[in-house]
Amino acid sequence: MEKSQIARQGEDKVLMELRGISKRFGGVVALSQVQLVIYPGEVISLVGDNGAGKSTLIKIIAGAYQPDEGEIRFEGHRVRLRTPRVAKTLGIETVYQDLALVDTLDVAGNIFLGREPTRLRLGPGLHILDKCRMEQDAEAILHRLGIRFASVRNKVEQLSGGQRQAVAVGRAIFSEPKLVVLDEPTAALAVREVEHVLELIRSLRAEGIAVIFISHTLQEVFAVTDRIIVLRKGKTVGNLSTKETSIDEVVKLMVGQERSLVADNRAG
Ligand SMILES: Nc1ncnc2c1ncn2[C@@H]1O[C@H](COP(=O)(O)OP(=O)(O)O)[C@@H](O)[C@H]1O
Ligand SMILES: [Mg+2]
Repeated sequence: MEKSQIARQGEDKVLMELRGISKRFGGVVALSQVQLVIYPGEVISLVGDNGAGKSTLIKIIAGAYQPDEGEIRFEGHRVRLRTPRVAKTLGIETVYQDLALVDTLDVAGNIFLGREPTRLRLGPGLHILDKCRMEQDAEAILHRLGIRFASVRNKVEQLSGGQRQAVAVGRAIFSEPKLVVLDEPTAALAVREVEHVLELIRSLRAEGIAVIFISHTLQEVFAVTDRIIVLRKGKTVGNLSTKETSIDEVVKLMVGQERSLVADNRAG
């Protein structure tokens, strides 16, 4: 799929747009006049040093925080993401770093958590779980993502970090979202498992689902994204086509003139 974002700056194709988003926490300006545009089926990354505002921006997109200023548009309409439920209803699913899986449930149970299909309705609150259908549907979702588990009846506590990530993404795509936000999905993973998560992101893109991917590892960002948004001290300082930029350029934008200072802080 050939995509030139520069050629697609028209309003009609935009999935989501954030204009002039600002957010303060007391005296701290976490975000200042942030601009962000995401197109359908596009994989973008938000990068920036610690404290740059990535998590705050994601929480605004997820409906968990309200911006102090600015405008959010989704599929051409101005929206107010008052709660995470409102964001989900529009088609925005967020997978946070802690994943919020239930260890004692199996894979299928986690994918369907809170919305299990029922076979019989015996009255209010008296539903009999359709285990069989749940397992088939869970398998179908994982198959779509190119994932194979020995069994969807495995408890998630037995799974590796990458497999747990896959279950969380499986749960996120159950509702056929238009945008999936992944907050540092590779942070706690073994190198071998990182590639699986990157493959997962490519599967989402192949289905036309847009992805916002957060990672501290620029090699991963370059391996999987179409576009990179750089935040520094709460401001958008870069909006780059991945094909047309380099790790060096992104790092320079991330740290600004304080490169050595930031490196020193990290070492300490
Ligand atoms: N809930 C909060 N209360 C107070 N300050 C916060 C809160 N969340 C974030 N901040 C501050 O906002 C800035 C941006 O933080 P954050 O969005 O977590 O950055 P990042 O995810 O890029 O590391 C930081 O200065 C941080 O300390
Ligand atoms: Mg963060």
